[in-house]
Amino acid sequence: MAVTLDFKDKVVVVVGGTSGINRGIAERFAAQGACVAVASRSQDKVDDTVASLKSAGAPKAVGQAFDVRDPDAVAAGLKVFHEQLGDFDILVSGAAGNFPALISDMSVNAFRTVVEIDLMGTIHVMKGAYPYLKKPGSSIINISAPQGYQASEAQGHVGAAKAGVDQITRVLALEWGGEGIRINSVVPGFIADTEGVKRLSASEDSLNETIDYTPLNRIGEKNDVANMCLMLSSELSSYVTGQVIEVDGGLYLRGSSVFGKALGDMLRSQKA
Ligand code: NAP
Ligand code: COA
Repeated sequence: MAVTLDFKDKVVVVVGGTSGINRGIAERFAAQGACVAVASRSQDKVDDTVASLKSAGAPKAVGQAFDVRDPDAVAAGLKVFHEQLGDFDILVSGAAGNFPALISDMSVNAFRTVVEIDLMGTIHVMKGAYPYLKKPGSSIINISAPQGYQASEAQGHVGAAKAGVDQITRVLALEWGGEGIRINSVVPGFIADTEGVKRLSASEDSLNETIDYTPLNRIGEKNDVANMCLMLSSELSSYVTGQVIEVDGGLYLRGSSVFGKALGDMLRSQKA
């Protein structure tokens, strides 16, 4: 069988695709010739990303502004993408919200906000996209995080939400596999120049310690995650579904204490 990483004319939808890791994924698919659609809350970020996708090699790139917490808005936005581009070959769901906070100190609404974005947002995207997924042959990638399976101080809300995201991945692999839809979670390591790393590094020293703990001895690049998304969406992965795959240089083998303890200490010292 000839194997190709050519995504020419494949329809790729990236929800939460207007900054950081997810934008890196959208741009990588654009450079591979795909027709890419991106969505997030900010119309300005959507417009900026669509312009960049067009210059990266996706002249038909389109975008929509919606909030993943609103199931009707998600469904309507995805319907427009279908009208513009046709059935979805690849769906990446990565919208997320995060801030460091101890459970005892955060409001119920703070906890709920992250669950609504990360977990409920994922289910809204999955259900909204289902009618438009190519059957058979589509690949879904949920962007997850290690907090979902490694307990991490100041990350109880994100951990609860991302654990749910990974279980949605596994359950949908069972429920949709028969229709030829594959679905996997990708867990990024610490990725340079991202909002996540900015928010989760208690200090420059703790970021350097995290990099030092990384077996491959460097911080990750957006392209490291995008490359895995290309592979998971290609024929090379035609028998892979329901998996939670780390792209982390081996960092998470060391457990969660690396950045969680530093965040916990930082927040406790602010209270003292
Ligand atoms: P980021 O730059 O903040 O990207 C988040 C994206 O989601 C943005 O496009 C944002 O755009 C969108 N978004 C946020 N809330 C939304 C909402 N309610 N509705 C629709 N879109 C929304 O973050 P990042 O650091 O690159 O992280 C990207 C993904 O990787 C996340 O799923 C995160 O959990 C995961 N991750 C990141 C790291 C890391 O090293 N950074 C490590 C592990 C996992 P708007 O502001 O326009 O809505
Ligand atoms: N510590 C404790 N609570 C916090 C907080 C923090 N650092 N930041 C926000 N909250 C609380 C708010 O006080 C509010 O709770 P309240 O109503 O009881 O006061 C609740 O969280 C919602 O905050 P709000 O600012 O209204 O939410 P929003 O919908 O405008 O924004 C966030 C969502 C808070 C997740 C915001 O940080 C965001 O938009 N993040 C997207 C980018 C991101 O997080 N990237 C990293 C990905 S890894």
